[in-house]
Amino acid sequence: MKMEAWMTGALLFLGGCTKPPTASGTPKVVDSLPPELVGKAQAAEGAMQALQVRLFQRLTQELERGGPAGAVTVCRDEAQALTAEVAKEQGIEVGRTSYRLRNPKNAPRPWAEPFVTAAATRKSSEVKPLYVDLGDRLGLLRPIPMGGVCMTCHGAPDSLPPEVVRVLKEGYPEDRAVGFAPGDVRGFFWAEVRK
Ligand code: HEC
Repeated sequence: MKMEAWMTGALLFLGGCTKPPTASGTPKVVDSLPPELVGKAQAAEGAMQALQVRLFQRLTQELERGGPAGAVTVCRDEAQALTAEVAKEQGIEVGRTSYRLRNPKNAPRPWAEPFVTAAATRKSSEVKPLYVDLGDRLGLLRPIPMGGVCMTCHGAPDSLPPEVVRVLKEGYPEDRAVGFAPGDVRGFFWAEVRK
């Protein structure tokens, strides 16, 4: 259901948009996907969707069972492995990233960086998913909106439960992923697929 909404958004975007010229070094945004890449793009979108579902299921399960502090521990211990697992199952490189990171391992790939940085002060409704031409591969980026349930661990620092603050401090001494508000771009799902 979510998938369809996002794909419609992507298609509308692809159908109706003229891009401003890209700055030198910024990879080329694909405005109109050639027919032979449509299937590949769908597979990559499917991989991002699978990652989202898997992480969200695990998160909500743990919030119910162990509360927010327990869920942080699970995210810390499992998010990277779950991401690698989905990538392997789908045969597509996939992950999450942001301009304000909790885990430095989620740093954007060089091709994604300009787009991720540009989303820093934007609302997720203003930021569109996009396809990027990477030569022999197609890159995909899809913004992740900040939602209500995310506030427990990514909201204003003084609004976080003290036990969450404690486990975050232990697990992520360089955490920058707080201070978001609902509707912000929290980050992006990304994927890379061979053409
Ligand atoms: C229980 C606490 C908790 C909640 C609730 C939570 N997150 Fe996170 N989030 C984390 C932790 C911990 C990490 C670091 C995971 C890792 O080590 O890869 C993280 C990482 C991320 C990342 C990867 C980028 C980065 O900063 O490392 C994104 C994107 C993200 N969260 C989005 C969300 C969204 C969207 C929601 C709401 C649907 C949400 N989170 C809810 C704890 C939480």
